[in-house]
Amino acid sequence: MQSARSCLAIILAAGEGTRMKSARPKVLHEVAGRSLLGHALAAVEAAGASAVCVVVSPERPEVGAEALTRYPAATLAFQTERLGTAHAVLAAREALQAGYDDVIVAFADTPLVRPETFRALRDELAAGAAVAVLAFAAKDPTGYGRLVLSDSQLESIVEHKDATPEQRRIVLCNAGLMALSGAQALPILESIGDDNAQREFYLPDAVKVARSRGLKATHTRAPEDEVMGVNDRLQLAAAEARFQARKRDEVMAQGATLIAPETVFFSHDTAIGRDVVIEPHCVFGPGVKVADGAVIHAFSHLEGAEVGPGASVGPYGRLRPGARLAQGAKVGNFVEIKAAEIGAGTKISHLTYIGDASIGAGANIGAGTITCNYDGFNKAKTVIGAGAFVGSNSSLVAPVSIGEGAYVGSGSVITEDVAADALAVGRARQVEKPGWASRFRAAAAALKARRAKA
Ligand code: UD1
Ligand code: MG
Repeated sequence: MQSARSCLAIILAAGEGTRMKSARPKVLHEVAGRSLLGHALAAVEAAGASAVCVVVSPERPEVGAEALTRYPAATLAFQTERLGTAHAVLAAREALQAGYDDVIVAFADTPLVRPETFRALRDELAAGAAVAVLAFAAKDPTGYGRLVLSDSQLESIVEHKDATPEQRRIVLCNAGLMALSGAQALPILESIGDDNAQREFYLPDAVKVARSRGLKATHTRAPEDEVMGVNDRLQLAAAEARFQARKRDEVMAQGATLIAPETVFFSHDTAIGRDVVIEPHCVFGPGVKVADGAVIHAFSHLEGAEVGPGASVGPYGRLRPGARLAQGAKVGNFVEIKAAEIGAGTKISHLTYIGDASIGAGANIGAGTITCNYDGFNKAKTVIGAGAFVGSNSSLVAPVSIGEGAYVGSGSVITEDVAADALAVGRARQVEKPGWASRFRAAAAALKARRAKA
């Protein structure tokens, strides 16, 4: 039913957010590696919005820039004076005039609203409502707009500051999000006045206006923690915690094992396959994909990385952007990988840095191997062929290549390419001096004794 209906989403992002005490605009603070605004954009997109207009303040150009980065098809509307939520929606007049079946209004500082919640509001429009409001039962309703019902019909919404003592006892509150019939939205919004305690144009007055015109106004409900807004750093942390709990449940529901879910932190876009095991205390930055059957051992940190089927990382593994592990590859403890392809079954088990490299299948990279990829100005590449064996504590000075099946002697500094199946040793030859240690000890003891006497 909805897919046939066109939908304009208007996201209000012109707020001040002073309680964040931040140089950064509030809606650019992040939950799970994505801005609050980015979350709102993702939700309305998933709810089927065919066009998105973000209402911003001309004083904060960063907000519009983020909107366009996250959602290039979005348009921006500018609210120059903050005269209330209905006034903010009217800033998007041009978009409204283009004519849509549904209009949904979202707040940029409310990051946890699920797409299905927006879709439920749109269902109300499809069923004939002119205005559909999202409501929640507040533990503490102070400050919120209250839904005034009569015979379970929505009559109006009264802002806390305008409410009578009796109305203030109502716990059913306005979450702020709303859906309006596209045909009615402009005439309704234009009839909203500012005759109230705050001399503001209140969006929730759309209910009153609709009712006065004999149009239908309805509400749907969401859990309180889904509609929580972020105004300060404590609420930001609470939103993060809620998001993480939800994401962990989702990852487990899709067939991954989290041994101690409360210790694992995901990004908004982390993709985890089936039968993946994630041990305690792992952190996933943005852009990580883990394929089926992989194991992420404890205390690992991954960002911008792909872990292939059955591969393993850690404990204490670090995958940085561009790390790509093929099937069954193993990256062990205290190993850092950046911008490198690691071939199937290749083992890099201990204490190693691999950056700007490509390693074929079935190679073995010994403990303490370092790709020296940076000369202070430029990065250079290391290529290691399939089946190669790099002895422990070797430095590979890029650009350099190690041929397929070649060996590098432990402790080598490799500055020139090594041919396939060759052995390269780049270190001083070992010398042995028989009896040297006992002669040294005798001479040193005698020197110490002479100095003690003097
Ligand atoms: C609003 C609702 C209230 C609801 C509550 C839920 C109104 C009048 N009241 O109250 O019923 O219970 O949200 O949290 O809508 N904004 C602008 N331009 C403006 C004014 C606001 O862009 O001129 C933006 C704000 O940045 C914010 C959102 O709209 O993102 C809501 O405004 P806010 O002032 O926080 O409204 P509340 O008083 O919280
Ligand atoms: Mg608010």
